[in-house]
Amino acid sequence: MNTVKLHDATLNIVDEGSGPTLLLVHGFPLDHTMWRHQIEALSNNFRVIAPDLRGFGASTGANDRITMEQLADDMAELLDRLDIAEPITFCGLSMGGYVAWQFWQRHASRLARLILCDTRAVADTEEVASGRLIMAERVLSEGALIIADAMLPKLFAEQSVRQQRDIIEATREVIQATAPATIAGALRGMARRSDMTSELPSVHVPTLVICGEHDSISTANEMRSIADRLPNANFVEVAGSGHMTPLEDPHSVTSAIRVFLL
Ligand code: MLT
Repeated sequence: MNTVKLHDATLNIVDEGSGPTLLLVHGFPLDHTMWRHQIEALSNNFRVIAPDLRGFGASTGANDRITMEQLADDMAELLDRLDIAEPITFCGLSMGGYVAWQFWQRHASRLARLILCDTRAVADTEEVASGRLIMAERVLSEGALIIADAMLPKLFAEQSVRQQRDIIEATREVIQATAPATIAGALRGMARRSDMTSELPSVHVPTLVICGEHDSISTANEMRSIADRLPNANFVEVAGSGHMTPLEDPHSVTSAIRVFLL
């Protein structure tokens, strides 16, 4: 692991392999380890960079509202610090996908390709946003355990829950180790994220859209319709997986990325 100092945060990152840059951006409230299989397999062909976003994992820099714009700007600053000037492939899962949209809007010249895993283009409804704000306060007073309990059943397909206890437990540990201030900040940031739906026809960059068949957070139907509205996108549905496709079916996700990029 390396640490990279940004102007107001220090990011913990994996930086492995050489070749075109593939940036892997994790979901909420997780860290880079959700990409462990892809890091291992894809660093044969690519320079794979997998950061812990600010405040998550071993990174610092949490604040009261961690916006998707700020996280996208962090990724651009990280690339500057690593002297990576060539356009990259940005791969984000769920919250990482919300960051990807902002990276496309704010740093388009740095983007060669997009990979959107199990994510959404719509903003939160008022009801969902206010639920996040309530959860932010509860996590601050009661700790990360309550978000682990609330989220874990939604992250994985039933089949994974039955057959892959190890990934569920590893994910629980990551969530419980996340600082409550980071969880609260990111909940507030996601609650105010912008709606990208009307922008989709303008995203001309080659894009791979990946979704688990049983994803209950960003459903396969919703993601197929995102892919349909993007001018240059392929859609891959991962049979049997839920929201955490890179962990639930690492082989299918890695192969889809390889076919898209090579
Ligand atoms: C994630 O996996 O990053 C979250 O489910 C995103 C969200 O809560 O909208």
